[in-house]
Amino acid sequence: MNAREILSKAFKEHYAIGAFNACNIETLKAIINAAKKFQSPVLIEASDGEANYIGKKELAALIRIYRQEYGVPIILNLDHGVSFDSCKEAIESGFDYVHFDGSKLPFDENLSIATEVVKLAHQHNVLVEGEIDHIEGSSADHTKEDPKSYQDASHYTDPEQAKEFVEKTGVDTFASFVGNLHGLYAEELHLNLDILKKIRQAIPNTFLSLHGGSGINDDEVKEAIKTGITKVNVNSEMRVTFKNTLQKTLNENSDVAFYKLSKEAIEATQSVVEKKIELFGSRNKV
Ligand code: G3H
Ligand code: ZN
Repeated sequence: MNAREILSKAFKEHYAIGAFNACNIETLKAIINAAKKFQSPVLIEASDGEANYIGKKELAALIRIYRQEYGVPIILNLDHGVSFDSCKEAIESGFDYVHFDGSKLPFDENLSIATEVVKLAHQHNVLVEGEIDHIEGSSADHTKEDPKSYQDASHYTDPEQAKEFVEKTGVDTFASFVGNLHGLYAEELHLNLDILKKIRQAIPNTFLSLHGGSGINDDEVKEAIKTGITKVNVNSEMRVTFKNTLQKTLNENSDVAFYKLSKEAIEATQSVVEKKIELFGSRNKV
């Protein structure tokens, strides 16, 4: 199955595909092992920084082999691509999906670059995600901060503007901003599901993604998926779990063979991914 078929199946059957960020072989293993164990399709993604750390071509080659060896559907995504050139490099490296994040640009500039990305991507059967409202925060531990300081409701997605953007650019997926934030905060995040419903009505044939999948109230994530979210991005919960587990192992072990030291961190991160696969409803959907 290609990326469009994997997402279309989720769209039709009302579950979501987890979009899990990977920045090294350890987190890749955690995601792939979880997908295999739970027989779930996954979207593996890397931000520009993560992708360039591994290498876009190297990452695409690894995913090709994992796909063959593990027999689970995997979509490889460039997450929050910062420029046309970065998206172009990912497309030419063999990515299946690119997220052009022009949300910090003026609307018209975002619109014109996204249109160019779509033109190029669709020539290579690559899907494109677009974003018009900057989804605040960062994929890190903000648990000493109040999420309200990041959530100005007036910045939530305007369904009519989403419709205009999707119709003019032809993006396949739209990144909705309805109270979701990047990162983990002092309290659970809550979504404005009424706005999400209006976005769904405004762009009924476009995949909807939910960024900031860490730290959102589980029941509201389930409601959001029922409302039409087909892709949920997760990074912070994995990053924090990986780092804290590894730190504990390093403090307790004098071993210097990293492949032995990373085992617990990989397993702990894998269980984060497994919990999300259960929550998103994609278990046994291979
Ligand atoms: O693009 C990546 C995701 O939006 C990650 O969000 O770190 O809050 O899970 P998160
Ligand atoms: Zn994101």
